[in-house]
Amino acid sequence: MREITTKRIIEMKGKEKITMVTAYDYPSGLIADKAGIDIIFVGDSLGMVVYGDENTLNVTMDQMVYHTRAVAKAVKRGLVLADMPFMSYEISVEEGMKNAARLVQAGADAVKIEGGYDHKKLVKKLVRSGIPVMGHTGLTPQRYLRLGGYHITGETEEEIEEIIRDAKALEKAGAFAVVLEFVLSDVAKLVTEEVKIPTIGIGSGPYCDGQVLVWHDLLGFYEHAPPFVKKYADLRSIIQLALENYKEEVKDGRFPSGQYYWEFLDKDDFEKKKKRAMERLSQEESEK
Ligand code: KIV
Repeated sequence: MREITTKRIIEMKGKEKITMVTAYDYPSGLIADKAGIDIIFVGDSLGMVVYGDENTLNVTMDQMVYHTRAVAKAVKRGLVLADMPFMSYEISVEEGMKNAARLVQAGADAVKIEGGYDHKKLVKKLVRSGIPVMGHTGLTPQRYLRLGGYHITGETEEEIEEIIRDAKALEKAGAFAVVLEFVLSDVAKLVTEEVKIPTIGIGSGPYCDGQVLVWHDLLGFYEHAPPFVKKYADLRSIIQLALENYKEEVKDGRFPSGQYYWEFLDKDDFEKKKKRAMERLSQEESEK
């Protein structure tokens, strides 16, 4: 069992801020874990930042299982959380149960679903069966067709009501935390005060119990990062510069230089071996 459990995450509420970041493969899982991130999250955002799709609707269970397995192999300390992709839990509770089990069998410690109130039955059943669940309300990207794009939530009375209803339903059903995505910070603060489970914000201000960002956004890989992202590094420029340098050095013959290859120190020895090898090869050729 990994050191960070869902029990530990719940205990952190009000005492210590929770850190969460997405990771989609072995190296990113390894680095996030070494950095001491609490929750390492295989998000369905991989559809956009890894596979180049315009939204997350094409992500499949097979993709989620594949990427979860890679991340889970790397992570020793943090909690590995895996996203349930679009239509993997909406059709029936049974299907949701089966798909969640696949993610746990791939190495996840918990799963995340988008929504709250509408999925309370599934959450309850998953939790009772031993699969911890994180919910997600506010902006729910899997519903972006209905929402008409990605915009801030919590402006109207109805939206405030819906967000609180979701968070409370998740808490009641036994979820261990809830993501609040792109919610006005006053509303995020209210939800954080209203529920006993931790709230993890993304674009929802400082009052949440924790924060999550997408790997490619915070490290500066993704050109369409949302406005709430702080870029902690510009790795895209660093990598591009490295690749341009590599290309130029290969083109003009500076790479590989002496320290990157090995040669015979005794050239006479090489000449002898070469002569014998070439003779054997021509013998073989003539026998064909
Ligand atoms: O898939 C994802 O990366 C997410 C985060 C935005 C929370 O759901």
